[in-house]
Amino acid sequence: MGKTTTAINLAASLAQSGERVLIVDMDAQANATHGLGVRLAEGEPGVLEVLLGERHLADVIRACTVPGLDIVPSSPDMAGASVLLPEMDERERRLKRALATAEHVLSEYSFVFIDCPPSLGLLTVNALVAADRVIVPVQAEYYALEGLAQLMSTVAAVKERLNPSLRIAGLVVTMMDPRTTLARQVEGEIRRHFPSLSFKTVVPRNVRLAEAPSHGLPVSMLDPRCAGSDAYFDLAMEVAEHG
Ligand SMILES: Nc1ncnc2c1ncn2[C@@H]1O[C@H](COP(=O)(O)OP(=O)(O)OP(=O)(O)O)[C@@H](O)[C@H]1O
Ligand SMILES: [Mg+2]
Repeated sequence: MGKTTTAINLAASLAQSGERVLIVDMDAQANATHGLGVRLAEGEPGVLEVLLGERHLADVIRACTVPGLDIVPSSPDMAGASVLLPEMDERERRLKRALATAEHVLSEYSFVFIDCPPSLGLLTVNALVAADRVIVPVQAEYYALEGLAQLMSTVAAVKERLNPSLRIAGLVVTMMDPRTTLARQVEGEIRRHFPSLSFKTVVPRNVRLAEAPSHGLPVSMLDPRCAGSDAYFDLAMEVAEHG
């Protein structure tokens, strides 16, 4: 949990610091797309058509409410990908290929973030094959640690078989309620297990972060002074520094 919130707000913070940033929404829920105020009309092409090879990436990129931040939008039609993609050749490399053929467009961006769907299926594999680094939001709750182990083994498997240059950029503890002992224990566990992999920034549980998507805005444009906005600016600094 926290993937889309992190994708939107980290990308927006970097864009507001003057970087050109692209988000690729790989989820049929289209939370990143809608959360940035973009909505595909019936029949309008988005990420699905790019994966199917029917459209060039450059043809579907949209600007959003944040200057400097663009998005490759998704829509509920993307649910069709789970039926169509498995039948295609190079099914794990569809996104990688689409990005490679759009190199001249992508060179305008300093960061490309790919927002993954909830399951570790073919779309997530496509994202991991196309990416060179993975940012893993970890919810400060006990069961999050189990999901983390599963994700780490998926990343390792993709690295071994499909994308040797893949690495974990970092784990970011999110939805932190510092008043609860359990949340602090979980944060401690994460830092003990992954000392060199944990971002210093911790994203607090913050109601403005949950409200912002319904306004089609990142939190920094809804309430630039709230704790959620501060946290994602700090995280953006860490990500920018790590290169
Ligand atoms: N730091 C936070 N404080 C408060 N609410 C949060 C925070 N981070 C995320 N949320 C809320 O928790 C819910 C899940 O977060 P989010 O959509 O970012 O998770 P996700 O990993 O993208 O989920 P999915 O796997 O369904 O795509 C959303 O309603 C979001 O607004
Ligand atoms: Mg999501």
